[in-house]
Amino acid sequence: MATVTGSASLLLCLMTISFVAAAAATPSPSKKSEDHGKTLSLTLYQHETINKTAYMVVDGVAGAGVSQTTTPFGTIYVFRDNLTVHADRASAVAGVAEGSSVTTSLDGLLSLSAAKITLDHRGRRGSVSVLGGTHNTKPADHPVVGGTGDFAYALGYVRTSPVDLRGSTVTYKMELSLYWPPYAQYAPTP
Ligand SMILES: *[C@@H]1O[C@H](CO)[C@@H](O)[C@H](O)[C@H]1NC(C)=O
Ligand SMILES: *[C@@H]1O[C@H](CO)[C@@H](O)[C@H](O)[C@H]1NC(C)=O
Repeated sequence: MATVTGSASLLLCLMTISFVAAAAATPSPSKKSEDHGKTLSLTLYQHETINKTAYMVVDGVAGAGVSQTTTPFGTIYVFRDNLTVHADRASAVAGVAEGSSVTTSLDGLLSLSAAKITLDHRGRRGSVSVLGGTHNTKPADHPVVGGTGDFAYALGYVRTSPVDLRGSTVTYKMELSLYWPPYAQYAPTP
């Protein structure tokens, strides 16, 4: 059931961490809008296998049936998928995406997903939490609602796109586009 995967997966993969340190000078209250926080872009690959890394825990009640790309309205999935640096499942693991997804459209293609993406890559450790809509067969952007560790105070979005929905293990490309607003980088880390 790629479907499951589709809806369940919110998420993500890692990558090439290119740290674009913005030339953010010390924030000046009078030039707030001109200051640039730091940004970080990375791409990872999320792998999901039904009944191994993702499970349907509540059956849906209406609409489309279970198919390769759909799940009934109300279906709830829970997943914990590894994130690798390349599309190849055997490549280095850079993190894990854990969360759940609820099918929210009668055509069975849309879901609301909440996930925590934990990363340990190139010296950066921490997590990014996302909450947003996922489309089973198309790219979807999930707003970042916050982070921990090296990702504390991060904002931005995480785009997931299907790479391979065939077979028992489906793969999604996960592109994280993170941004730290001005001043946040000077705030104390919990
Ligand atoms: C996953 O497990 C459920 C419950 O045992 C089963 O009904 C379903 O067919 C399994 N799905 C796959 C793809 O193996
Ligand atoms: C996920 O990655 C961990 C750490 O590399 C590994 O031990 C585990 O077997 C992987 N899980 C799957 C389902 O590939």
